[in-house]
Amino acid sequence: MKSFLPNFHAVIFGAGGGIGAAMASQLVATPNCSRLTLMGRNISKIQENVNTNGDTDIQLLQADICDEKSIAHVAAQFGEYINNDAPLQLFVNASGILHDEENSLQPERSIRHLSNEAFQKVFAINSFGPALLIKHFLPFMPRDQRSVFGSLSARVGSISDNKIGGWYAYRASKAAHNMLIKTASLEARMKYNQAVIVGLHPGTVATNLSAPFRGNVSPEKLFTPSQSADYLLGVMDNLTIEQSGSVFAWDGQEIPA
Ligand SMILES: NC(=O)c1ccc[n+]([C@@H]2O[C@H](COP(=O)([O-])OP(=O)(O)OC[C@H]3O[C@@H](n4cnc5c(N)ncnc54)[C@H](OP(=O)(O)O)[C@@H]3O)[C@@H](O)[C@H]2O)c1
Repeated sequence: MKSFLPNFHAVIFGAGGGIGAAMASQLVATPNCSRLTLMGRNISKIQENVNTNGDTDIQLLQADICDEKSIAHVAAQFGEYINNDAPLQLFVNASGILHDEENSLQPERSIRHLSNEAFQKVFAINSFGPALLIKHFLPFMPRDQRSVFGSLSARVGSISDNKIGGWYAYRASKAAHNMLIKTASLEARMKYNQAVIVGLHPGTVATNLSAPFRGNVSPEKLFTPSQSADYLLGVMDNLTIEQSGSVFAWDGQEIPA
């Protein structure tokens, strides 16, 4: 990561998921990422999915993005060991939900399928949670060094790009996510004016999240998690402070609101 310090600390929230685990594995192999904190609901899933072979100092912390007390708790744990020898320069939120078979949650094809319960859950994970991560972790980001807070969004969260409809809760939760990112980026300009806060679209990636919905995606348009992780880390390496508040795709292109 050429634009980061020789010894930076990175956090991946949602490190047990497809894209989160691939990003974490690449950061383990990134020479100047000397410390890595991996957070998620399920520590054993992180241990299973992340390749931790390397010299990087790794901490694992359990947290649920739907529960602010849980986020505050991991932030307090993190505060006990973060230090200036390896400043927090990269925080990635790689969590998110589109469907949940156990709770009969599916993206809605029609307005007839809308449910208050599904809205609450999808917004809690995709919109409110990422904003609460900014609330609890922005204070750890250095004031005198560039840092990046990247949160996984989706192209379907673009209102102007919505040509086919459907997926009400997911689309709306990502649009709300993008508004929260923009608003936080404006506030951060006062006190954390080196922090670049962005949403990221990873492309269509072969993970559990996309599994039921990618039948029509041609093989060259379907990324492996490590391909997408590689692209997104490259995008974050190149972002400037002027780009804070926007959403960028895997190829570095800005996605319109
Ligand atoms: N895959 C795609 O094609 C695609 C396209 C556009 C955008 N995205 C976005 O990319 C992000 C990552 O998705 P993915 O494809 O890597 O999916 P994934 O493999 O299903 O990973 C989702 C992650 O979210 C975590 N998560 C869900 N609910 C949580 C909660 N309450 N607390 C903490 N973590 C929670 C999961 O944790 P567990 O491991 O504990 O389940 C998992 O780590 C999502 O925001 C998604 O919307 C993906």
